[in-house]
Order: sequence, then structure tokens, then C-alpha cells
Amino acid sequence: MRKKVSPVPAHIGIIMDGNGRWAQQRGQRRTQGHLEGLKAAKRVVKAASDLGVRYLTLYTFSTENWKRAAEEVGFIMGLVRQYLRGELDFYRENRIRIRHAGDTAGLPPDIAGELRKAAEDTGGFDGMQVILALNYGGRDEIVRAARRLAASGPRAEITEAAISAHLDNPDVPDPDLIIRSAGEFRISNFLLWEGAYAEYLVSPKFWPDWTGEDLERAIEDFRGRNRRFGGTVK
Ligand code: FPP
Repeated sequence: MRKKVSPVPAHIGIIMDGNGRWAQQRGQRRTQGHLEGLKAAKRVVKAASDLGVRYLTLYTFSTENWKRAAEEVGFIMGLVRQYLRGELDFYRENRIRIRHAGDTAGLPPDIAGELRKAAEDTGGFDGMQVILALNYGGRDEIVRAARRLAASGPRAEITEAAISAHLDNPDVPDPDLIIRSAGEFRISNFLLWEGAYAEYLVSPKFWPDWTGEDLERAIEDFRGRNRRFGGTVK
């Protein structure tokens, strides 16, 4: 009997974990792992766009990642700057739109500026949307949404729809699939509200080893799942 085939997930979120361990296994510095992690992100963005994914959220820097050594934080921010500045031709060719999720106010001003510029430069593209979760925490996003809702007026009704409407990117549909590389079964404060009914996939591979084929395999796995959203089996 043929399995019921669901389409390609419209929105995939990825927790790109294992950069540090990848480097340590090779006796290299953690920063080398992040450099290779950026290359993996580029491979996976291209593959997702080619496969017809509409939204790809990349967990690039969490609200908790500031606890890391200043050198590592500075290095990751440098990679983000490089990615935002250096990829314009690639975005243009692939009609990719860049967006941000997270607290802009807590970002270094130059990074916030680069994000704004990349979002403006690519805002008219109708291809896949890449959402960089930067200075992002799921709890923080819910708190900021609640504050915006409260500020919208004394009669603001507190409903699920109203909170959803005040998230960072309210027009972006909830993720269908959330992938975590490097083998750990944790959500680490990623898309807590939006991921309520996502399918989850944990891959043992460290993020720098990820390729487009790994994404294809993850999508194949997703297509075999039976999503019920709290209902019963059809
Ligand atoms: C988690 O691995 C990875 C990060 C905190 C940084 C992710 C950043 C990149 C992949 C580079 C920038 C990407 C873009 C798209 C601009 P870890 O350091 O926690 O690994 P570990 O758990 O093995 O220590």
C-alpha cells in the first residue's frame, strides 16, 4: 500500500548544533566549526530553495548565546555580517528574501543595520524566505508579543490569535518541521509558540557536515509522518 504523501514542508526551522564539537573532534578551534557551519548553512539554504521550501528559519544566535566567550560571540557576529553582505547576488539569483526573528534592540547596532539593509534589499523577492533567528529566544519572543499586545490598547483581548498576531513575523506560517543537528533531543528555546504542532527530527550529524542531501532525507522522513494536530488518525 502506498503511504499517504504530504507535500514539501512549507516552513522548516533548523537548530544548527554541533559546530563546537565538530571542531573539537578535529583538534581545531570552535570558531573553525562556526566557519564550516556557515558553509553548511549556505548549502542547505540553496537546497531548500531548490526543493520548494517557502520559509526557512535558521537558529543562528540565541538570547542565551551571549554567555559564550567574547571571542566566539564576536566571531559569530562577524560571520553573520559576512553572510548578510556577501550573498546579495545569490539572494537575487534565487529570489530569496531575508528576514529577522529576535530582539533587534539587543543586537550590536551594525548587525541590526545589516539585517535591516538585507531585508530591504531583498524585500521584493518572491522566492523562499530565510528568517535568521538572531538574539532570538522563544520565551523572549512571547514576552515581547505580550507587551506589544498590551500596548495596542486597554481593551486588547488576550487570545491565541492575538498573541500570534504580535509575534516577530506574524505573516509567517508555523513551522511544519523542526530539525536539530548533533543528536540532542532539546528545543533550546526555539520557536516555542510557533512549533506547537511541528514535526521534530533530530539528526546525529554535526551541523558543519550537513549537505543538501541531508535536507532531502529529512523532508522524505517528514513526508512519511501522519500529522494529526491533536485530532484522530484519518
Ligand atoms: C551551535 O553550535 C551553533 C551556533 C551557536 C552558531 C550558529 C552559527 C552558524 C552556523 C554560522 C552563521 C550562520 C549564518 C546563517 C549566518 P555549538 O557551538 O553550540 O556546538 P556545540 O554544541 O558542539 O558546542
